[in-house]
Amino acid sequence: MKRLVCIFLSCLCANAWALDAITLEKQYVSQANQASSVARGDKFFQAKHGKDWSCASCHKSPPTTDGQHASTNKTIAPLAPAFNAKRFTDEAKVNKWFKRNCHDVLGRECTSLEKADVMAYLNSLKK
Ligand code: HEC
Repeated sequence: MKRLVCIFLSCLCANAWALDAITLEKQYVSQANQASSVARGDKFFQAKHGKDWSCASCHKSPPTTDGQHASTNKTIAPLAPAFNAKRFTDEAKVNKWFKRNCHDVLGRECTSLEKADVMAYLNSLKK
């Protein structure tokens, strides 16, 4: 019995920790209750939304190579997960930056559907 509980717990923890870009896209899709779209995500990523910057201003288009911060000029590693294994593995980091960057680009938080679309677009970029 004790062993079963341990196996159960380790599965739970493994699931909670093993975040990846595909899982994240699925989470946003289920929150949005609507299918994601690569084309919509692509458009959203390149476009300005009433402010000075688009996502591509810092992350480049396509975001498969190093980007550069639009105001500090600091180098930003590729955002597309196929080109940067560290991307979308840390939920706290993902939440922090979606929040901050959506505010910078849209003046509000991104909706679940916008995040699902961005993830669909990023996941579609392959080597
Ligand atoms: C002003 C520059 C800037 C703009 C504009 C910007 N970002 Fe970022 N973004 C950053 C920086 C800086 C980081 C953190 C450094 C890093 O992760 O390399 C980051 C990190 C992220 C991350 C964290 C990913 C992870 O798991 O490592 C996500 C998600 C993200 N950005 C999405 C977006 C989206 C979506 C937009 C458009 C709505 C956007 N960014 C616009 C600068 C920017």
